[in-house]
Amino acid sequence: MTIYNHRFIIKSIFLFGLLACVSETFAQVVTIPIETANQAVVLQAGNDKRLRCIYFGHKLSNAKEYESVPEAYKQAEDHAGLLNSAYTPSGSRNLFEPAITVTHADGNQSLDLQYVSHEVKSAGSGVSLLSVLLKDPVYNFEVTLYYKYYHQDDVIEQWSVIKHHEKGKVTLQKYASANLHVKANEYWLKQFHGDWAKEMQPEESKLTHGIKTLDSKLGTRANLFMPSVFMVSLNGPAKEDEGSVLYGGLEWSGNFKVDMEVDNQDNLRIIAGINNYASAYVLNAETDFTTPPFVYTLSDKGTGDASRHLHNWARNFKLLNGKGERLTLLNNWESTYFDFNEQKLGELLKDTKKLGVDLFLLDDGWFGNNHPRNDDHAGLGDWRENRKKLPNGIASIAKEAVNNGVKFGIWIEPEMVNPRSDLYQKHPDWVVKQPKREEYYFRNQLALDLSNLKVQDFVYQVVDSLFIKAPSLAYIKWDCNAVTYNAYAVHLKDAQSQFYVEYVRGLYKVLQRIRAKYPTVPMMLCSGGGGRVDYGALQYFTEFWPSDNTDPMERIFIQWNYSYFYPAIATSNHVTDWGKQPIKFRTDVAMMGKLGFDIVVSKLNTNDLQFCQNAVKAYNDLKGVIWQGDQYRLRSPYEQNMACIMYADAAKSTVIMFNYLVNNRYGESSKMPVKLKGLDPQKRYLVKEINLYPGTQSTIKNNLTLSGDFLMTVGVNPDLNSQRTSVILSLTEVK
Ligand code: GLA
Repeated sequence: MTIYNHRFIIKSIFLFGLLACVSETFAQVVTIPIETANQAVVLQAGNDKRLRCIYFGHKLSNAKEYESVPEAYKQAEDHAGLLNSAYTPSGSRNLFEPAITVTHADGNQSLDLQYVSHEVKSAGSGVSLLSVLLKDPVYNFEVTLYYKYYHQDDVIEQWSVIKHHEKGKVTLQKYASANLHVKANEYWLKQFHGDWAKEMQPEESKLTHGIKTLDSKLGTRANLFMPSVFMVSLNGPAKEDEGSVLYGGLEWSGNFKVDMEVDNQDNLRIIAGINNYASAYVLNAETDFTTPPFVYTLSDKGTGDASRHLHNWARNFKLLNGKGERLTLLNNWESTYFDFNEQKLGELLKDTKKLGVDLFLLDDGWFGNNHPRNDDHAGLGDWRENRKKLPNGIASIAKEAVNNGVKFGIWIEPEMVNPRSDLYQKHPDWVVKQPKREEYYFRNQLALDLSNLKVQDFVYQVVDSLFIKAPSLAYIKWDCNAVTYNAYAVHLKDAQSQFYVEYVRGLYKVLQRIRAKYPTVPMMLCSGGGGRVDYGALQYFTEFWPSDNTDPMERIFIQWNYSYFYPAIATSNHVTDWGKQPIKFRTDVAMMGKLGFDIVVSKLNTNDLQFCQNAVKAYNDLKGVIWQGDQYRLRSPYEQNMACIMYADAAKSTVIMFNYLVNNRYGESSKMPVKLKGLDPQKRYLVKEINLYPGTQSTIKNNLTLSGDFLMTVGVNPDLNSQRTSVILSLTEVK
């Protein structure tokens, strides 16, 4: 070796060292801001390569300054350096609830995830997709975190893709979609609970140290007792137009788990995903395990703003045909139950036309021969028309509907089976039940094993064959009336712990096949009322059934609570005979979402019929604003004697305002005016009461014209009182 060479080598070593050192300095801190129009979530990989969330809040005008955020906090010590992990691994140094827990192929249970790289791609106009690759330095195991962010709507969908290259199988014991980290002085959780006919009852409480869990273990009808949607207000309960509030929900139609943990630093860790209850998932090497998106939005302008963001996002990006049309309808469930025949249906088709709605929806009871569906004990699974009730099949009713100038839709519950059915006898191995245990029923039925490809084919065929028989079929009501007991799937053999996950995946596969062939046919997501509603399912459905409880007084509250998370266009409201209120009140309540009827039209007196017909016409004129407009909740039925809600079109020139008196004690009335929101202060609006009952006069002054400024500062009085328990006002810009 010459001196020169020697020097060269020394120089090279020095240079290389310098470069490595420089690149290490550069590699030390990687800051990744996820910014939407108003909000930001900022991730940072420190020089220890652990990915953390260093900021969650209002967007800063200078993105460089996010790096100074951590220094601004002088909180208790983080003994693990992981409290604000962007995806907390377990079994290494975590001290709090993990996002992911695994058992490696060699039985070791530790995981450490370190930042490797990230990239941001466009995912359409105004939408970006960030992916961050994390790897375990010891095991050949990786997680990619995905953040899809919708700039205009301040909405983020977050999920993870888990993969390994180990020799053998890895068991995922826990596999969350998202792990958020929020800093505030106080956290107020508003959650929702319920049961049949009591969906979406709110409860608000302050989160204290430790874990509060929202979850479901119900399987099929996962949301019967609780949906995954929730809101957390920061520094005190948010109001409609004030306060910081985070809305979240898992896009998954099965068991979910959301843990909210206030840690020793007083920060809030939110870990959301599929419920790992009885669901350890065995993952083969080189196979992606994709968790469902957790959707969230943060607003610092209160709950109204957060809802409008979520509604916009849903209509633009998630809900099937969110910007499209919907059909008004007459349903026969409450007017006939299981008792009908062709002749009766013929009359109902005429009533549909008479009422003026778009479609007749034939509900439960049309199928089953060896086990006729004459009540809810038999027939589910045997999707052939009952020959006694419908000797000429649904093709003939569908044709008859066309002859009457209306459309035709049908109810199905294809995931379920009654033990009293041909299907149950023919394919006992398709049924979810424990082979050695007594069967246990919910509404006399059991779920089919949708993790089985053959069952997926069967369910697909149920739908496809209806469209083949009746090509003019224009609507499907897809029901799901049972929770899952005795979860066991024959075909999964020794992989039973994958059942809950594979069931939902199977359901989505069927829905994807249906949508590939029938992309836009409206379908209602129903589950014995609102037992299954989430944005995972709503990408295949145009609307959902919030509750079987259609008592309009109850419904005001139920619809109010759904309105936090779901837009009016997706919320099917039917006028029924539940409740003692007059038809006007019942109809006015149903009109605040997607209108339908489930009443005996032929029994309506002349005025009631006339009122309903006019209401359908009025609705047809207004539905664009209700479905696509911005929603403002003006008066809460929880706080006042009235509920008021309004919708304004994008141009702020057409407004619909729904007002209901919710207290019938003596003298209760709208004593104070109600301030509108979201108007143009400069514009002048003609205020008019619509949907009047025949023979009644409005007490709102004729030609009342007020400025947007007046309407938002002083307000308008709908003049609610015991004689006028519901009032709909339309406000149109006067040019
Ligand atoms: C469920 C639905 C109802 C009706 C019945 C039919 O309860 O929520 O609307 O369709 O099933 O059995």
